Amino acid sequence: MLLSLTGLWAVWKFHDERKIDHLYTLHSWLGLSCIIFFSLQWATGFWTFWYPGGSRSGRAFLLPWHVFFGVFIYVLAIATSVTGLLEKSIFMQSAKMIGRFSTEAILMNSLGMLLVLLSTLVILAIVSPGTSRIDTYRGSSE
Ligand code: HEM
Repeated sequence: MLLSLTGLWAVWKFHDERKIDHLYTLHSWLGLSCIIFFSLQWATGFWTFWYPGGSRSGRAFLLPWHVFFGVFIYVLAIATSVTGLLEKSIFMQSAKMIGRFSTEAILMNSLGMLLVLLSTLVILAIVSPGTSRIDTYRGSSE
Protein backbone atom coordinates (compact mmCIF):
# COMPACT_ATOMS: atom_id res chain seq x y z
CA MET A 1 0.00 0.00 0.00
CA LEU A 2 2.79 2.38 1.00
CA LEU A 3 4.77 1.59 -2.17
CA SER A 4 1.78 1.98 -4.50
CA LEU A 5 0.89 5.37 -2.97
CA THR A 6 4.53 6.47 -3.27
CA GLY A 7 4.51 5.39 -6.94
CA LEU A 8 1.26 7.26 -7.59
CA TRP A 9 2.61 10.41 -5.91
CA ALA A 10 5.85 10.21 -7.94
CA VAL A 11 4.16 9.78 -11.35
CA TRP A 12 1.58 12.49 -10.53
CA LYS A 13 4.34 14.95 -9.54
CA PHE A 14 6.30 14.05 -12.69
CA HIS A 15 3.23 14.79 -14.86
CA ASP A 16 2.63 18.12 -13.06
CA GLU A 17 6.25 19.22 -13.45
CA ARG A 18 6.36 18.31 -17.17
CA LYS A 19 2.85 19.74 -17.76
CA ILE A 20 1.60 16.36 -19.05
CA ASP A 21 -2.16 15.62 -18.79
CA HIS A 22 -3.26 13.23 -16.06
CA LEU A 23 -5.13 9.98 -16.63
CA TYR A 24 -5.31 9.97 -20.44
CA THR A 25 -4.06 6.40 -21.03
CA LEU A 26 -5.64 2.98 -20.53
CA HIS A 27 -2.65 2.14 -18.31
CA SER A 28 -3.41 5.05 -15.97
CA TRP A 29 -7.09 4.05 -15.73
CA LEU A 30 -6.18 0.44 -14.95
CA GLY A 31 -3.59 1.65 -12.40
CA LEU A 32 -5.98 3.98 -10.61
CA SER A 33 -8.71 1.28 -10.48
CA CYS A 34 -6.11 -1.12 -9.10
CA ILE A 35 -5.10 1.27 -6.32
CA ILE A 36 -8.75 2.05 -5.43
CA PHE A 37 -9.75 -1.66 -5.29
CA PHE A 38 -6.60 -2.55 -3.35
CA SER A 39 -7.29 0.23 -0.79
CA LEU A 40 -10.89 -0.98 -0.33
CA GLN A 41 -9.73 -4.61 0.01
CA TRP A 42 -7.07 -3.59 2.53
CA ALA A 43 -9.47 -1.44 4.62
CA THR A 44 -12.24 -4.08 4.59
CA GLY A 45 -9.76 -6.82 5.55
CA PHE A 46 -8.31 -4.74 8.36
CA TRP A 47 -11.76 -3.75 9.67
CA THR A 48 -13.34 -7.22 9.62
CA PHE A 49 -10.44 -9.67 10.13
CA TRP A 50 -8.17 -7.62 12.40
CA TYR A 51 -9.51 -4.56 14.21
CA PRO A 52 -12.16 -4.16 15.57
CA GLY A 53 -13.05 -7.48 13.85
CA GLY A 54 -16.44 -8.57 12.51
CA SER A 55 -18.72 -11.33 13.78
CA ARG A 56 -17.97 -14.96 12.80
CA SER A 57 -20.87 -15.09 10.35
CA GLY A 58 -19.93 -11.69 8.90
CA ARG A 59 -16.36 -12.87 8.29
CA ALA A 60 -17.57 -16.18 6.81
CA PHE A 61 -19.80 -14.22 4.42
CA LEU A 62 -16.93 -11.92 3.40
CA LEU A 63 -14.21 -14.56 3.01
CA PRO A 64 -15.12 -15.79 -0.52
CA TRP A 65 -15.43 -12.15 -1.68
CA HIS A 66 -12.07 -11.37 -0.08
CA VAL A 67 -10.51 -14.30 -1.97
CA PHE A 68 -12.17 -13.29 -5.25
CA PHE A 69 -11.10 -9.65 -5.00
CA GLY A 70 -7.58 -10.72 -3.99
CA VAL A 71 -7.18 -12.63 -7.27
CA PHE A 72 -8.95 -9.91 -9.27
CA ILE A 73 -6.69 -7.14 -7.92
CA TYR A 74 -3.61 -9.27 -8.55
CA VAL A 75 -4.60 -9.78 -12.21
CA LEU A 76 -5.35 -6.04 -12.49
CA ALA A 77 -1.89 -5.21 -11.11
CA ILE A 78 -0.26 -7.52 -13.69
CA ALA A 79 -2.33 -5.97 -16.52
CA THR A 80 -1.37 -2.48 -15.29
CA SER A 81 2.33 -3.34 -15.14
CA VAL A 82 2.33 -4.98 -18.58
CA THR A 83 0.53 -2.00 -20.19
CA GLY A 84 2.91 0.37 -18.32
CA LEU A 85 5.92 -1.44 -19.77
CA LEU A 86 4.31 -1.50 -23.21
CA GLU A 87 3.53 2.21 -23.32
CA LYS A 88 6.90 3.24 -21.88
CA SER A 89 8.65 1.17 -24.55
CA ILE A 90 6.47 2.63 -27.33
CA PHE A 91 6.90 6.22 -25.99
CA MET A 92 10.69 5.80 -26.02
CA GLN A 93 10.72 4.20 -29.47
CA SER A 94 8.53 6.98 -30.92
CA ALA A 95 10.85 9.59 -29.40
CA LYS A 96 13.77 7.74 -31.05
CA MET A 97 15.36 7.30 -27.61
CA ILE A 98 15.68 3.55 -28.12
CA GLY A 99 15.56 1.21 -31.13
CA ARG A 100 12.98 -1.54 -31.75
CA PHE A 101 15.47 -4.31 -30.98
CA SER A 102 17.62 -2.34 -28.51
CA THR A 103 18.69 -3.93 -25.22
CA GLU A 104 16.20 -1.68 -23.36
CA ALA A 105 13.27 -2.74 -25.57
CA ILE A 106 14.18 -6.42 -25.22
CA LEU A 107 14.54 -6.00 -21.44
CA MET A 108 11.06 -4.45 -21.19
CA ASN A 109 9.52 -7.20 -23.35
CA SER A 110 11.26 -9.85 -21.24
CA LEU A 111 10.02 -8.25 -18.00
CA GLY A 112 6.46 -8.32 -19.37
CA MET A 113 6.79 -11.99 -20.37
CA LEU A 114 8.17 -12.85 -16.92
CA LEU A 115 5.26 -11.06 -15.24
CA VAL A 116 2.79 -13.09 -17.34
CA LEU A 117 4.66 -16.31 -16.51
CA LEU A 118 4.76 -15.47 -12.79
CA SER A 119 1.06 -14.63 -12.67
CA THR A 120 0.20 -17.86 -14.53
CA LEU A 121 2.07 -19.88 -11.88
CA VAL A 122 0.46 -17.91 -9.03
CA ILE A 123 -3.06 -18.45 -10.44
CA LEU A 124 -2.26 -22.14 -11.02
CA ALA A 125 -1.17 -22.45 -7.38
CA ILE A 126 -4.40 -20.77 -6.25
CA VAL A 127 -6.80 -22.91 -8.30
CA SER A 128 -5.02 -26.28 -8.04
CA PRO A 129 -6.67 -28.36 -5.31
CA GLY A 130 -3.50 -29.79 -3.67
CA THR A 131 -3.21 -33.34 -2.29
CA SER A 132 -5.00 -32.76 1.03
CA ARG A 133 -8.07 -31.28 -0.69
CA ILE A 134 -8.10 -34.09 -3.31
CA ASP A 135 -8.22 -36.59 -0.43
CA THR A 136 -11.14 -34.66 1.07
CA TYR A 137 -13.06 -34.83 -2.24
CA ARG A 138 -12.30 -38.56 -2.63
CA GLY A 139 -13.40 -39.20 0.94
CA SER A 140 -16.68 -37.39 0.46
CA SER A 141 -17.55 -39.21 -2.81
CA GLU A 142 -16.75 -42.71 -1.51
C1 HEM B 1 0.67 -2.01 -10.47
C2 HEM B 1 1.59 -1.21 -10.99
C3 HEM B 1 1.28 0.20 -11.52
C4 HEM B 1 0.30 1.09 -11.14
C5 HEM B 1 -0.76 0.93 -10.06
C6 HEM B 1 0.46 2.28 -12.00
C7 HEM B 1 -0.36 3.41 -11.96
C8 HEM B 1 -0.23 4.52 -12.77
C9 HEM B 1 -1.12 5.67 -12.78
C10 HEM B 1 -2.36 5.84 -11.89
C11 HEM B 1 -0.65 6.54 -13.71
C12 HEM B 1 -1.28 7.90 -14.10
C13 HEM B 1 -0.57 9.10 -13.48
C14 HEM B 1 -1.13 10.41 -14.00
O1 HEM B 1 -2.00 10.43 -14.86
O2 HEM B 1 -0.65 11.47 -13.51
C15 HEM B 1 0.54 5.94 -14.31
C16 HEM B 1 1.30 6.53 -15.30
C17 HEM B 1 2.40 5.94 -15.92
N1 HEM B 1 2.94 4.71 -15.63
FE1 HEM B 1 2.24 3.40 -14.26
N2 HEM B 1 1.52 2.07 -12.84
C18 HEM B 1 2.05 0.81 -12.58
C19 HEM B 1 3.13 0.22 -13.22
C20 HEM B 1 3.88 0.78 -14.24
C21 HEM B 1 4.98 0.13 -14.90
C22 HEM B 1 5.53 -1.29 -14.59
C23 HEM B 1 5.44 1.00 -15.83
C24 HEM B 1 6.58 0.73 -16.80
C25 HEM B 1 7.69 1.37 -16.77
C26 HEM B 1 4.64 2.21 -15.75
C27 HEM B 1 4.80 3.35 -16.53
C28 HEM B 1 4.00 4.48 -16.49
C29 HEM B 1 4.13 5.63 -17.37
C30 HEM B 1 5.16 5.78 -18.49
C31 HEM B 1 3.14 6.55 -17.00
C32 HEM B 1 2.88 7.94 -17.65
C33 HEM B 1 1.93 7.84 -18.81
C34 HEM B 1 0.50 7.51 -18.41
O3 HEM B 1 -0.17 8.32 -17.74
O4 HEM B 1 0.04 6.40 -18.75
N3 HEM B 1 3.69 2.03 -14.76
N4 HEM B 1 0.77 4.71 -13.72
